[in-house]
Amino acid sequence: MARTKIKDILLSDKTDYTVNVKGWVRSFRNNQFIALNDGSTINNVQVVITLDTDEAITKRITTGASISVDGTVIASLGKGQKVEIKADNITILGDCDTDKFPLQLKNRPSLEYLREIAHLRFRTSTFGAIFRVRHSLAFAVHQFFNDRGFVYLHTPIITASDAEGAGEMFRVSTLPTENPPRNEDGSIDYKEDFFGRCTNLTVSGQLEAELGAMAFSEVYTFGPTFRAENSNTARHLAEFWMIEPEVAFNDITDNMDLAEDFIRYIIGYAMQHNREDLEFLAQRLVDEEKQKPMNERSELGLIEKLEFVLNNKFERITYTEAVDILLNSPANKKKKFQYEVKWGVDLQSEHERYLVEKHFKKPVIVTDYPKDIKSFYMRQNDDGKTVAAMDILAPGIGEIVGGSQREERLDKLEQRMKEMHIPADEMYWYMDTRKFGTVPHAGFGLGFERMVLFVTGMTNIRDVIPFPRTPKNAEF
Ligand code: 4AD
Ligand code: MG
Repeated sequence: MARTKIKDILLSDKTDYTVNVKGWVRSFRNNQFIALNDGSTINNVQVVITLDTDEAITKRITTGASISVDGTVIASLGKGQKVEIKADNITILGDCDTDKFPLQLKNRPSLEYLREIAHLRFRTSTFGAIFRVRHSLAFAVHQFFNDRGFVYLHTPIITASDAEGAGEMFRVSTLPTENPPRNEDGSIDYKEDFFGRCTNLTVSGQLEAELGAMAFSEVYTFGPTFRAENSNTARHLAEFWMIEPEVAFNDITDNMDLAEDFIRYIIGYAMQHNREDLEFLAQRLVDEEKQKPMNERSELGLIEKLEFVLNNKFERITYTEAVDILLNSPANKKKKFQYEVKWGVDLQSEHERYLVEKHFKKPVIVTDYPKDIKSFYMRQNDDGKTVAAMDILAPGIGEIVGGSQREERLDKLEQRMKEMHIPADEMYWYMDTRKFGTVPHAGFGLGFERMVLFVTGMTNIRDVIPFPRTPKNAEF
């Protein structure tokens, strides 16, 4: 008999039909009631076995074991579920030694502990919910752009350029690590390397996406990106996924509108398709917040927070206005900020969080940053000091999106690259777009894991990517 997904059984009111289900035992009570999960839903189906079931089988129905059940779906006698399965036959697919299984713990295992057993944590309700939500968000990304006629462009993972010009790249090389061939000046000679040149893992697909936008008008990328920044924080990964739309003829305002529409769309999609997962995560958050002092607990629950974002426009302010707000804030007057607020200096996460959590209490788009703290490709404003950049800051997270209108004027771009020591000749392909039919254009990058953090209410980025890569941590 073909396998039926547990989700389909639980979603339907239908009873009195036979099914086969397969999954992993979450618990086994009174030698009679199995809570079985196959990952299709947060909910377990209750499988009731007859009291005369062979003891050789019941002994092996332990938490974590995998089983196959043939049975009949019947109206449930117990409360909490509409239907359950009366088992006719149970086969053990894989035993699980109770004494050794780490998820057998009676108390709820901590997130820190589960991070150490990331290979098994999918089997908990929390991580099941998180990764189903992550899946839905990823699916919604493609749906959103496809519906709007964007072309999904696959940009390279191995690249010879540094898209952000920040020098935070992982080197890719086939040269021997010990005594690689060297040039006369002591630098590594890449002639013998696989690619015959120095290459890295990409930090962003933006520059290549710009090339695509100059033909398809609207493109997006969605792929893994890599940063060798040594930031061991709850918001940084060395390997993360980024979504980067790039649109010809858009200016910075169009770019902000697109980013807002996009964020609302994918949140709305998850709320529609993952209601039970999100309700579970909302309750998890309530339980977690109970550990915090009253004044640190968030005012809104997870679902309310998401609904708020769906129904309210983001605040839009310039960097200069943001600095003024911060300088005049009670927090600054009471010297509560660790880092000094000063025009020209990048906002630290404590400043970003003050703006969104304390001052505006909603997501904020900050525009027009000083050019010296932003990348070479951003369009220079007429004031000569700022660029048409936009960062979206989200409550509880800080920066979730970074984007800009791009510098489409060849002379301005060349001058800026010179000032910032970016080798324009090596990037002739990028410069060509400005020579051959250049147009105003804009785009942004959404850090996918930061988005998943926001939607799931989790607080550590290591908990929203299946296999996190962080400094000194690359298990599997
Ligand atoms: O602000 P960033 O560096 O912008 C770019 O890479 C542009 N090329 C994007 C574009 O305009 N097409 O990164 C974009 C976003 C950040 O706002 C943040 O959400 C996320 O990527 N991000 C990270 N997420 C996790 N770990 C890290 N180390 C991240 N660095 C950036
Ligand atoms: Mg940024």
